[in-house]
Order: sequence, then C-alpha cells, then structure tokens
Amino acid sequence: MDVVQRVLISEEKIQTRVTELARQISQDYQGETICLLCILKGGLMFLTDLAKRIEVPVTFDFIGISSYGHATQSSGVVRITKDLEESIEGKHIIIVEDIIDSGLTLSYLIKNLESRNPASLRICTLLDKTVNRTVNIPVDYVGFPVPNEFLVGYGLDYQELYRNIPYIFVLNPDY
Ligand code: PRP
Repeated sequence: MDVVQRVLISEEKIQTRVTELARQISQDYQGETICLLCILKGGLMFLTDLAKRIEVPVTFDFIGISSYGHATQSSGVVRITKDLEESIEGKHIIIVEDIIDSGLTLSYLIKNLESRNPASLRICTLLDKTVNRTVNIPVDYVGFPVPNEFLVGYGLDYQELYRNIPYIFVLNPDY
C-alpha cells in the first residue's frame, strides 16, 4: 500500500513559492542582518531552501520544540528539547516553521523568545492550517494555506519518516 494518498503541493510549486517568500523577506529587511530561527525538525528543509535565496546577510540558530510526540494530533504539551546557542538580544529574528496547526507551539515559543529582547520577531511558515487554530498567532509570511489533512514531506514526518520527500503529500489513512 502506498503511503501517499495524493500529492498536495508539488516540488516545483514549493520551490517557486519559497523563491517569492525569499524575495519579499529580502525587500523587507534591506540593510539589516536576519537571524533565521529554525524550529526542529520540521522547519529544516524550508530553512535551507529559503536561506539560499535571501539576499541580505543571514545567520542561523536552531531550537527544538516537542508538541506532537508520535501521535498525529497536537497534545498541547510543549517543551524545549534543544535551546538556542546564541543570544537573540537586539537581533532581527524570523522564526521558520514548516506548519502552524493549533498554534500552541508558536504561542509558547513567541512568549519565550520575546522575553529574550530581540530587536524584532516575525514568523514565516510554509504551511498554515488555520482551521485548527486555538490561539491567535500573528503570521507574517505564509507559503500556502492548507486543509485539515495529515500532511507529510518536505520536513513534515509520519513517525519520523518521509521528511526528505521533496513535495507535500496527504498521508494515506489506511497506511
Ligand atoms: C509540528 C510543526 C510545528 C507544530 C505545529 O512539529 O513543526 O512545530 O507541530 O503544531 P501546533 O501549531 O499545533 O503547535 P512537531 O512537534 O511534529 O515536531 P517536528 O517538527 O520535529 O516534526
């Protein structure tokens, strides 16, 4: 049985949209240096493709947040599994996420990061699943709004697998 029920967003569409987002970010941050803050592990593919196309200086840092465990629904339980290595005080931060679902993960993270006094804090997500949102999140850059289906690929996993698939697909529920 195939794990792919259907391809939702092709590799070509992802790459085109990532280029557009990078162009927008480059315009918005002219003359500045950006710290791209990747939320592990799902944000990794998006971060690397996005960063390659941004035309202002960028640095990276990584934070590990756990909310789903191995279940397919958000538990609301959020914890930091790996903290940032650098101070973000006075820096222009863009959080790079693969998907915002309930918003619980980012809600927690925004509060945590704001207490560290960055110069600015914006959010860039590839996928935005607004239908499940339980907390209001100010999202500055969105790749694609997506429906309420279990999505996998391009950083998103099912039981830690399929993050390396270059497109976004709907998981076959019978798999
Ligand atoms: C996913 C995703 C977001 C979060 C979104 O991470 O990368 O961080 O869930 O869900 P929410 O808006 O309902 O909080 P996950 O915990 O699956 O970890 P992963 O990135 O390592 O797969």
